[in-house]
Amino acid sequence: MLEKKVRYNVAVVGATGAVGRKMLEILEERNFPVANLKVLASARSAGQTLTYNGKFLDVEELKENSFAAVDIALFSAGASVSQRFAPFAVKSGCIVIDNSSAFRMEPGTPLVVPEVNPETIGENPGIISNPNCSTIQMVLALKPIHDKFKIKRVVVSTYQSVSGSGQKAIDELQSQTKSILEERSFIPNVYPYQIAFNCLPHIDKFMSNGYTKEEMKMVEETRKILGDGSIGISPTTVRVPVLYSHSESLNVETERPISVANVKDLLSEMDGVRIVDNPKNNEYPLAIDAEGKDDVFVGRIRDDISCENAINFWVVSDNLRKGAALNAIQIAEYLTIRSESNK
Ligand SMILES: NC(=O)c1ccc[n+]([C@@H]2O[C@H](COP(=O)([O-])OP(=O)(O)OC[C@H]3O[C@@H](n4cnc5c(N)ncnc54)[C@H](OP(=O)(O)O)[C@@H]3O)[C@@H](O)[C@H]2O)c1
Repeated sequence: MLEKKVRYNVAVVGATGAVGRKMLEILEERNFPVANLKVLASARSAGQTLTYNGKFLDVEELKENSFAAVDIALFSAGASVSQRFAPFAVKSGCIVIDNSSAFRMEPGTPLVVPEVNPETIGENPGIISNPNCSTIQMVLALKPIHDKFKIKRVVVSTYQSVSGSGQKAIDELQSQTKSILEERSFIPNVYPYQIAFNCLPHIDKFMSNGYTKEEMKMVEETRKILGDGSIGISPTTVRVPVLYSHSESLNVETERPISVANVKDLLSEMDGVRIVDNPKNNEYPLAIDAEGKDDVFVGRIRDDISCENAINFWVVSDNLRKGAALNAIQIAEYLTIRSESNK
């Protein structure tokens, strides 16, 4: 349980990365009650400075003893870093909100999207996991449909931006695009192939069943968050040459009869979801419009003309915000509000 305070000591682990920088921005933007903010990264970044609320903060090297007096630690430095350092953070008494995949599927670890399953955060969570970015935006749209119509099966294809692979991938797409336009040669570094002007049906490593790890995360995490292991999920995850925001095409089949009007009604009531669906005026969710926004945008809602009780739609969200930093900070806000009501 987070002890109630007026302001909290917060650490951001991986503060120099794409998600970490976004966390600093969002903590400031949402006026999170921060007493002291510690910005931690690898030894490579120690001594650099980051800005928060108009102040310069020195980046410190992450160490086992970095968490003394820290109340909330927001981790976004990859699974191996979380695995090694999160237990030290918990030992020193702070609550860890972890963006990596390290603990997501551990039975005792809450995997939380605050609009969907905040009740799964127990009294003494220790570590709370933030789901994968492509899972978060999908479950926000699926939750009210599942509650009312019981989802049988979801077929999902993703169109994921390069920022989902971190700052180096953002730099690589920009530099490759420039090289191609200037007819200069280059060697792909972050991805196995050229990403500029290309699509790669390959995110994370391949598993023995022919799916990628990213695809299997969408299957397992969605079932855990919605608390229903019977939902069938058939994913294909694709990296596209977009800088920010992931897009997803969903086909959702339900047990009970469902209509476009039902889905529009349910999603218009869902916190964190905004419908943009006016094909007559060419209005539908776009990655470039979702960038920098908090909501998950849904559009192109239509009947599946090939299947009874099935609906198609398109879901777009800023992966660095709702898919990562914002969701983590909303969890932290939930903890602070809960500690208020428990005082
Ligand atoms: N990008 C997304 O959309 C997204 C969405 C959901 C979850 N996530 C997860 O969030 C995490 C970070 O992603 P990112 O996109 O921000 O990656 P990134 O831009 O590559 O940043 C990685 C961060 O981790 C730090 N780091 C690396 N090794 C470290 C070490 N040994 N000790 C301490 N810090 C270390 C880096 O510090 P240096 O600068 O010093 O190297 C940097 O601050 C990953 O677990 C990722 O799976 C990302």
